[in-house]
Amino acid sequence: MLSTTLLTFGALAVGTANALLSNVTIFTPPSNYTIPRTLYARTVLLNQDCETSNVLLATWENYGPNNDTDPYFPIYQSLDLGATWTERSRVYDQANGWGLRYQPFLYELPQAVGNFSAGTLLLAGNSIPEDLSETQIDLYASTDKGYTWSFVSHIAHGGEALPDNGLTPVWEPFLMIYENQLVAYYSDQRDPLHGQKLVHQTSTNLLNWTAPVDDVAYSNYTFRPGMTTVSELPLGNWIMTYEFYGAPEAAFAVYYRISNSPLTFNASVGLPIIATDGTVPISSPYNVWTPVGGSLGTIAVSCGTLSEVFLNHNLGAPGAWTKVPTLEGVSYTRSLRVLPGESEILITGGGVLGGTNNSVTTSSIDITPVGPKLASCNAGTGTYSGRRMV
Ligand SMILES: *[C@@H]1O[C@H](CO)[C@@H](O)[C@H](O)[C@H]1NC(C)=O
Ligand SMILES: *[C@@H]1O[C@H](CO)[C@@H](O)[C@H](O)[C@H]1NC(C)=O
Ligand SMILES: *[C@@H]1O[C@H](CO)[C@@H](O)[C@H](O)[C@H]1NC(C)=O
Ligand SMILES: *[C@@H]1O[C@H](CO)[C@@H](O)[C@H](O)[C@H]1NC(C)=O
Ligand SMILES: *[C@@H]1O[C@H](CO)[C@@H](O)[C@H](O)[C@H]1NC(C)=O
Ligand SMILES: *[C@@H]1O[C@H](CO)[C@@H](O)[C@H](O)[C@H]1NC(C)=O
Ligand SMILES: *[C@@H]1O[C@H](CO)[C@@H](O)[C@H](O)[C@H]1NC(C)=O
Ligand SMILES: *[C@@H]1O[C@H](CO)[C@@H](O)[C@H](O)[C@H]1NC(C)=O
Repeated sequence: MLSTTLLTFGALAVGTANALLSNVTIFTPPSNYTIPRTLYARTVLLNQDCETSNVLLATWENYGPNNDTDPYFPIYQSLDLGATWTERSRVYDQANGWGLRYQPFLYELPQAVGNFSAGTLLLAGNSIPEDLSETQIDLYASTDKGYTWSFVSHIAHGGEALPDNGLTPVWEPFLMIYENQLVAYYSDQRDPLHGQKLVHQTSTNLLNWTAPVDDVAYSNYTFRPGMTTVSELPLGNWIMTYEFYGAPEAAFAVYYRISNSPLTFNASVGLPIIATDGTVPISSPYNVWTPVGGSLGTIAVSCGTLSEVFLNHNLGAPGAWTKVPTLEGVSYTRSLRVLPGESEILITGGGVLGGTNNSVTTSSIDITPVGPKLASCNAGTGTYSGRRMV
């Protein structure tokens, strides 16, 4: 199995050695799709089993024909690290009869949790009826790498799906394992003391969830922190980024917090990202950390208004953020994914809010151009390293 997989990987890589991806189309919606047609793209890189390592999956908000009454989250696959894409499956609402409408997130379990083994694929997303009267963050699982899906549990229920203060929706789940529990982060408008705040719940079996705990909650009611993503850093720290309506720098300035536990961000100080050239990224951020780029690795952060991304080689130290160009256009809430070899980061977008011609695209950047790397599969962990062999 191992050698077959390596041969396949080598064959796929021929002809694309060291090439970065530039504005690759994952999905072009037909013209009968409902505007904005696509938004909010997310990816996962499978790496828990040698047989499926290097498979990328993507999903997004999918606004189908005729105001789609049963929207689903598409699952597209790439077997060549993002160069070409085909449909793998569709995740339909199995629990509410409303559709899976907004804010999907994909995650491959790195360890067993409850009755779910390592390598189980998870999808969290917002199930919302056509009249937008309710919001329900639900969890689905696939035990066959995303070909078939089953409803697992309801995580959080909220009110009308509009981002107005005084309404009570929940939004934008992000999943991560920490200390043998699954953490589900999301945005929460249900607390009457906060127009919106950021919270998390945890589960040790994916079925039963603890009560919400605050991650970012400002005392000014009108402030709206939103859109949590979290990455582990070296030296026992964690970074979360979020957009911050209420920030003095700009409405929806991208903020970050560093904490020695991903469950106690509320006790940390929020800081704006301000690049060395003065740029403040705005809206819908996403962060990843990769071990390359320096002895402390590199944090990369995307935002919702620029093609560029922001890098920090010093564990998030203020003043150490640099703005670097990318080949990917602007999208509302682009997502980032570190590719095998860990120097290349995939940037995936589903288009802009209000966009009349959105499509789903992806590009990559190489943050440390150190030449070709060899691919190898570490049997045991199943983790590949190395992107494009020559
Ligand atoms: C939408 O367009 C696609 C592609 O042209 C077509 O296959 C599909 O049947 C259309 N759907 C509806 C509901 O009109
Ligand atoms: C979809 O719904 C919107 C808002 O209700 C409406 O303006 C639009 O005409 C609808 N489009 C279709 C194709 O039904
Ligand atoms: C796990 O599976 C076992 C055997 O099917 C079952 O008895 C148990 O209730 C399950 N546990 C959970 C948390 O679902
Ligand atoms: C945990 O969730 C399962 C499935 O929804 C439910 O049957 C069970 O009662 C829950 N257990 C607790 C302690 O809430
Ligand atoms: C809360 O923030 C708003 C701006 O969003 C500001 O106008 C208002 O004065 C602030 N309220 C307090 C009590 O600081
Ligand atoms: C979260 O932090 C804020 C200060 O930033 C504080 O006012 C609030 O009490 C904290 N919430 C919890 C639940 O600790
Ligand atoms: C990406 O490709 C599409 C389709 O060719 C094109 O319309 C768009 O302008 C391109 N975007 C960028 C940022 O190059
Ligand atoms: C819409 O985008 C597609 C590429 O996704 C491009 O080929 C087409 O020209 C665009 N149409 C308009 C009207 O801009």
